[in-house]
Amino acid sequence: MPPRPWYHKTSIYQIYPRSFYDSNGDGIGDIKGILQKLDYIQGLGFETIWSSPFFSSPQADFGYDISNYTDIAPEYGTMNDALRLIEEVHKRGMRIVFDMVMNHTSDQHPWFKESRSSQDNPKADWYIWRPPSNSPHFCKKWGERPNNWNSMTGGSGWHYAPERGQYFWSSFLPFQPDLNYRNPEVKKAMFEAVRFWLGKGVDGFRLDIFNVIYKDAEFHDNPFSFKLAPTEDDPSGFFQEAKYTLNQPESFEFARELRSVTEEFGERMLLGEVSGNRQIIRKFLGDEVNNGLGLVFDFAMLDFKFTADYFRALIEEMERHYPDPFMPVYVFSNHDKHRSMFRLGDDLRKAKLLAMFQLTARGVPCMYYGEEIGMTDLKQPFGSALDPLPHKFKLVPRFIFDLLGLFANRDEVRTPMQWDGTRNAGFSSAEKTWLPVHENYPSINVQHEDGDKDSLLNIIRALGKIRQEEGALRDGPLELMDGLPDGVLGYIRKFEDNKLAVLLNFDGQAREVPIEYSECVFKLSSGDVAKEKAIQLNGFGGMIIKL
Ligand code: GLC
Repeated sequence: MPPRPWYHKTSIYQIYPRSFYDSNGDGIGDIKGILQKLDYIQGLGFETIWSSPFFSSPQADFGYDISNYTDIAPEYGTMNDALRLIEEVHKRGMRIVFDMVMNHTSDQHPWFKESRSSQDNPKADWYIWRPPSNSPHFCKKWGERPNNWNSMTGGSGWHYAPERGQYFWSSFLPFQPDLNYRNPEVKKAMFEAVRFWLGKGVDGFRLDIFNVIYKDAEFHDNPFSFKLAPTEDDPSGFFQEAKYTLNQPESFEFARELRSVTEEFGERMLLGEVSGNRQIIRKFLGDEVNNGLGLVFDFAMLDFKFTADYFRALIEEMERHYPDPFMPVYVFSNHDKHRSMFRLGDDLRKAKLLAMFQLTARGVPCMYYGEEIGMTDLKQPFGSALDPLPHKFKLVPRFIFDLLGLFANRDEVRTPMQWDGTRNAGFSSAEKTWLPVHENYPSINVQHEDGDKDSLLNIIRALGKIRQEEGALRDGPLELMDGLPDGVLGYIRKFEDNKLAVLLNFDGQAREVPIEYSECVFKLSSGDVAKEKAIQLNGFGGMIIKL
């Protein structure tokens, strides 16, 4: 077996740059702000930083609508700041991956402006254009759209451009037109952008909605489905099966092609944002060998249930679908979905146990900024949202979303990082920050937790350090333990002569586990009643022991 690539052994910290740290007092986080906090991230034990996009963009989707792939948006800084960021990260022995939005550009990108201007300009075929299905006189009517495809956000993804008398396709929102990867010039241009950043030393990319890059070449209508809302394991919804709009065979092939481009620069991380059934998304990694994307998110786990049975089944699934030479990613929150505290009922004890699982299971942990201090969602009305997504659903009462377990207002999880108890949680000196700071910042902030040795923050720091020191946690296989008391999950990680057992009590009641061990590596708020040949895990307690 070839040696494991670095990106299978690393741990990832996700930064949403707009909300991380504002260095110049304009209320918006920036690259210089990230630079000032690198030591903090290093101290957490995370080895790779993924930053959401800071490229030139009208910011209609806060950077996920790019208008120049090789320049930096002025509110985030300059090209020099970006280069310094790469350099400073590397100086610390860490890595950094950028967020590459290949599927679509902003509608303000010069490519799109040119493309939409006429049917015969040099970029006419750079986006996905189709004529109305019937007479152009009625083309704005629903029935005249090129086919029945829904966008990922609901409703038709076809949008009419009078300049061409045609529709263009957007998988996400109308101002994010999809590029046409069946045109070799598009591929070439995007590979150039990829090479540009790799040449600057970037360690790889997180790939935005990578599984929609190709759509059916024949534009077949999608079949009807009874499914109302998309779920993490099945993106079909809005009464349509996303058969021809997602996970097309050409996209798997494209993953391999992109991999060969990045390999010109050595071992670089490709982390795909993909969605769908586990068996399908797994195909983005390659067939039998790791020759596609290096890693994919498997978002079904964002809907986790806090029970030992759930996490046992999750491990079984991940081990089945991502065995060597593949590697699962363990992720429980990001800039698009509820923070994990939402599912943990704001219980810090549970957050500590979740972190212990995430940092010790066989996989790459990926943690969203603020999770390390237990930041929570900040509920806000759809009407005043800055996020463009909820505006699509303005007429739907909020309780329907909550009832269906749907999440639409992403502002709620993008509030400024809570650094300390001063004004604006120490995020910015501005009068007004771009999104409000959560009112719980006086007690939930880095400085406050810094001083408490049992805080979530310090537990994550300790676990991050153990992960770095113990080869078994970074590199060893995982074996589930049987015969444990109800509510307790246990697994063994082995590396050379070293054998560690991780025991996690998902129940609020204490549990006794009969086991012999030679050394306790870490204990979480309990497990300190060591008896002969047995240990006690208090409610939501955990222990890492050497066998
Ligand atoms: C991804 C991003 C999300 C963005 C969308 C469109 O899902 O994570 O924030 O809005 O793609 O680019």
